[in-house]
Amino acid sequence: MAHIKKIGVFTSGSDAPGMNAAIRAVVRTAIYYNIEVAGIRRGYEGMINGEISPMERKSVGNIIQRGGTILKTGRSEQFRTAEGRKRAYDQLKKNNIDALVALGGNGTFIGASEFGREHEDIAIVGLPCTIDNDLRGTDFTIGYDTAINTVVEAVDKIRDTAESHDRLFIVEVMGRDSGMIALRAGIGIGAEAIMVPQTRSDMNALFERLEKGRKDKASKIVVVAEGDEPGGAFEIGRIIQEKYPNYDTRVSILGHIQRGGKPTCMDRVLASRLGVAAVEILRDGHHGEMVGLIHNVITFTPFELSVKHHDDINADFLRIVEILSL
Ligand code: F6P
Repeated sequence: MAHIKKIGVFTSGSDAPGMNAAIRAVVRTAIYYNIEVAGIRRGYEGMINGEISPMERKSVGNIIQRGGTILKTGRSEQFRTAEGRKRAYDQLKKNNIDALVALGGNGTFIGASEFGREHEDIAIVGLPCTIDNDLRGTDFTIGYDTAINTVVEAVDKIRDTAESHDRLFIVEVMGRDSGMIALRAGIGIGAEAIMVPQTRSDMNALFERLEKGRKDKASKIVVVAEGDEPGGAFEIGRIIQEKYPNYDTRVSILGHIQRGGKPTCMDRVLASRLGVAAVEILRDGHHGEMVGLIHNVITFTPFELSVKHHDDINADFLRIVEILSL
């Protein structure tokens, strides 16, 4: 068992609903094990600038239900350099921090991995927090469930107006270069077609799908992941309008509403379980790993293996969309 005296917890990169629930879990678990805990504000940038302050049981009261992150977040150019990481290390040493819990996604874990290699006396583990669900080593990331529920709620509303006007809507959702939000939310809203970056999007196949659909159903919804290669929802809308001048086509970009709001119960529970596990694995001597949940079992994946795996897509989901959009 490793003797950890003080844990620093921080959120980095894009915020995700459920980050607060994860911070709460880390802080309370540390206290439970008599480990001191400090909050580092504004991610790696705040670490470099020494924005570090003690946290106690009450610091995380009444936050489990709140979106965003009480610790604030951001991206840091300085931390991409070895000098920046050394400055962060010096600040951590000054504050007697000997372990870190990083809450974030790809960029956060790439930084954590480099930091861990350079400064081995500060153990660092990560919690997968991103709406994109694009990390390997967990079935779901914290924030993804809330985001897809936000998309479903928004597109249900779009469906009402699409139906009333017999319109075709191209709805663009977030996900950077991953299509996981588009895929699952698309099935949830009964999309006529879903376009994701993981598969080559063929406009002819989309035309075929739109033509094959029910002739008596004029309203149609195509969900496009922002990273899809034909060029985003406006470009797809333009191509469709050119091909079918009779379709009344509209484009809707859902944008940052997908990142906000109260986390769903699924995200709160996931954040709570993983937050407890993060502190426990630090005590067990782990470092350089992301904590995840696969088939309901807590798992640990080295940072290097957890990042940049957007090709993992369940082909069965796309097959289902084709069958159900008849
Ligand atoms: O990673 C989360 C995410 O919301 C992506 O889906 C999106 O591409 C990106 O962040 C947007 O980042 P920003 O808020 O900096 O524009």
